[in-house]
Amino acid sequence: MADDLLQAPAWKALQRHAGELSGTHLRDLLDQPGRFAAFSRQHGHCLLDFSRNRLTTDTLGLLIALAGERELPRRIQTLFAGDVVNPTENRPAQHMAVRGPDAPPLLVNGADIRAEIVAERERMLALADAVRSGEFRGSTGGRIRHVVNIGIGGSDLGLVMAIEALREFRTRDVEVHFVSNVDGTQLADVLDSVPAAETLFIVCSKTFVTWETALNANAARTWLLGQLGEAAVARHFVAVSVNAPAMDTFGIAGQHRFRMWDWVGGRYSLWSSIGLAIAIAIGSDHFRELLAGGHELDEHFRSAPLADNLPVLLGLIGVWNQNLQGTTSQAILPYDARLHRFPAYLQQLEMESNGKGVARDGQPVRWGTGTIIWGEPGNNAQHSFFQLLHQGTANFAADFIAPVEGSSPYADQHLVGLANLLAQAEAFARGYTLEAARAELVAKGRSPEEVARLAPHKVHPGNHPSNILLVRRLDPRSLGFLIALYEQKVFVQSCIWGINPFDQWGVELGKLMATGMHEALLAPGGAGLPPIGQVMRAWARDD
Ligand code: F6P
Repeated sequence: MADDLLQAPAWKALQRHAGELSGTHLRDLLDQPGRFAAFSRQHGHCLLDFSRNRLTTDTLGLLIALAGERELPRRIQTLFAGDVVNPTENRPAQHMAVRGPDAPPLLVNGADIRAEIVAERERMLALADAVRSGEFRGSTGGRIRHVVNIGIGGSDLGLVMAIEALREFRTRDVEVHFVSNVDGTQLADVLDSVPAAETLFIVCSKTFVTWETALNANAARTWLLGQLGEAAVARHFVAVSVNAPAMDTFGIAGQHRFRMWDWVGGRYSLWSSIGLAIAIAIGSDHFRELLAGGHELDEHFRSAPLADNLPVLLGLIGVWNQNLQGTTSQAILPYDARLHRFPAYLQQLEMESNGKGVARDGQPVRWGTGTIIWGEPGNNAQHSFFQLLHQGTANFAADFIAPVEGSSPYADQHLVGLANLLAQAEAFARGYTLEAARAELVAKGRSPEEVARLAPHKVHPGNHPSNILLVRRLDPRSLGFLIALYEQKVFVQSCIWGINPFDQWGVELGKLMATGMHEALLAPGGAGLPPIGQVMRAWARDD
């Protein structure tokens, strides 16, 4: 097999090396002089401290060698050149072009996609600013005070995340709401809280055939029509999609539809017109800054040496932890509550991209791929699941993320958050030994029996790897940089694992089966339902 990771010389060397390091505790590594200087990198306003991973300079050298053997530099070039990097859908992945500069021309199949991207971006930003300024009015002439984004997955998560993260930059004149789930509760709650005449709906769907979005959009349309009449639909609905015929059918006016391209994946699409809700919330200038931050990361990614390249390092460290250190999941722990949806956003980005079991050539992989991503803002998490992280048996890795300057007036409190971040990262790494626990109890005057009984319960094994990612301040530019950093990290890992990060066939089976289940739930007798489905059916019918 040409693409056999297990046969790569650097992989074999890494396996041997992991064995040699297995008896070394992180606390011993951390105490070595010069550790921070050797295992941290800064680019502009972003600092990655990866010194709290179980690795040495030899590890780093071998990981970089592995990246070379897996042809990472060539693959990065291929990605940026607009070559087909998504072979199962025969597409390039050009989200970098969407956040890139306005010139020079960028040809795909002979057409200048750069000019198209810029024209579409300008149309979208003009609408966003017109909504914000009140120049764009509803069908009764009133100002738009509410925007409801109807979309799911990549047409929702990045927008919610960015708008929450950039709350400081948000207008108070227009409130942005989100409806993604299909069960009707979100839709009902939002429709309950918005006056139709002041509401603009964005139907955000690359394909425009997503079941959840179609149902929510049609229900919202019916609601609006009931309040303002059919003629209002064209004024109160805009859409972003590649699917022009479906937008025709829905009744989206020509000037209110924004193009997407099949070479921008859903989970990589917040930079495109899919980000309209973000642009309405923070304004066109800030939206451009978000793009600029993403582009800055791209330039760094394509030009920095591998050993100084933030997404490359983040990706390689992830592979090291997961494949050679046995971590089974990755916690994302932002120490800024405005980043509270960042873990959910990364779940789709990482798990939909790299959750693959076959290599690019269709052969089953014989190594672990995409990891399970989860997380919550730091201090909340400390008071909930950190007990398991400190003293349970799970083997995990963590990314701590924080802006150093807070964006609230409560700077003192932000510093407390940062102190907690530092403490937790140190505690994960160093742990707390039995000897230290005993000494603590003795110093507190506990009896020998109590010391013996209690000390084991106070042990923290430690040795848990983590990264600390700092940005100076959470603003559109640094957020753009951070998002693109993780996007490219995902690409790096896909190259090491030899998988295609740009398709998502794994979401199809469930979708198909759900259609069948829905038909069965409606059918007389519920033929084809599993037993629990029969119970649902009976309860739903009040039998
Ligand atoms: O079901 C997964 C998915 O296809 C995602 O990849 C995508 O972001 C989401 O559905 C929404 O798709 P669309 O934007 O086409 O409605």
